[in-house]
Amino acid sequence: MDNTDTPVTVIGLGLMGRALAGAFLKAGHPTTVWNRTSSKADPLVADGARLASSVGDALKTGGLTIICVTDYEAVRELLGASDAGLDGATLINLTSGSSGQARETARWAERRGARYLDGAVMAIPSAIGTDEAVILHSGAQADFEAHRPTLDALGTVTYLGADHGLASLYDVAGLAMMWSVLNAWLQGTALLRTAGVDAATYATFARQMAAGVADWLPGYAEQIDKGAFPAEVSAMETDARAMAHLIEESEAVGVNAELPKLIKSMADRSIAAGHGKEQYPVLIEEFSKPGNDH
Ligand SMILES: NC(=O)c1ccc[n+]([C@@H]2O[C@H](COP(=O)([O-])OP(=O)(O)OC[C@H]3O[C@@H](n4cnc5c(N)ncnc54)[C@H](OP(=O)(O)O)[C@@H]3O)[C@@H](O)[C@H]2O)c1
Repeated sequence: MDNTDTPVTVIGLGLMGRALAGAFLKAGHPTTVWNRTSSKADPLVADGARLASSVGDALKTGGLTIICVTDYEAVRELLGASDAGLDGATLINLTSGSSGQARETARWAERRGARYLDGAVMAIPSAIGTDEAVILHSGAQADFEAHRPTLDALGTVTYLGADHGLASLYDVAGLAMMWSVLNAWLQGTALLRTAGVDAATYATFARQMAAGVADWLPGYAEQIDKGAFPAEVSAMETDARAMAHLIEESEAVGVNAELPKLIKSMADRSIAAGHGKEQYPVLIEEFSKPGNDH
């Protein structure tokens, strides 16, 4: 069999599942599909997919089974159904969830005789099947490598490690990066708009700032990994004074100051713990323990 002869099954045909099944079909894989609302399979069946009569029937196809539904509760409900024999199946669960759910579901599926990889889709449905679609996997490397030629049809597929929780952790870490960058940009946009600067004008500057800060990450990561934070560029107490300016400026021009206050409160706690003369990444110590949100 060449790569494209490998049979694939996709369970869950929401926006993402349909895109995944469509990419397998486009790459020439014999593709079996199943969805609770079976009408969502119609366009895929028209393109050559086989509609399974049940989850059990879908799993019997052999090869590789991808499941992509709303949440892990739905995954367990579907795969736990009485006719869904998992013995001998290889499952890749691309449903979003927590690392704990991923590890627990891996143990659950493996106890039933399945090989299980967890995954996270870092892309929108329209990007599936292109290099822009990054899809993360964690679990046994041998299982990932065995199916990599098939998974390549979906986009840029990446293996993270044996811990099944890794794909979910990278997923939420990526979201934290995305929302933090966007919120910082929105804060600046709100400030600049009070002086008549439109969002597009500021976006050009903000993009340079974001790229510049991104370049600091490898050096800062080295400090975190070594656990030593000499102030080579600036000390935390210098940063904290600039944070106070950001709060004052926001309040003075009538812009929301909640985010600047949150940023400063973490720096203040770090300074109170004796880190004022160290460099910014020492804040990892604040991020690594439960916060004061309760
Ligand atoms: N869309 C995106 O841009 C995107 C990006 C990255 C990751 N994801 C992740 O991909 C997963 C699917 O997202 P989606 O956008 O495809 O969602 P969606 O369009 O809302 O589809 C949800 C799918 O889950 C099925 N489902 C939900 N509960 C079920 C249950 N109890 N039993 C059987 N089937 C059930 C639905 O079946 P019915 O059709 O019968 O309702 C449908 O196939 C989510 O975990 C999401 O976080 C999505």
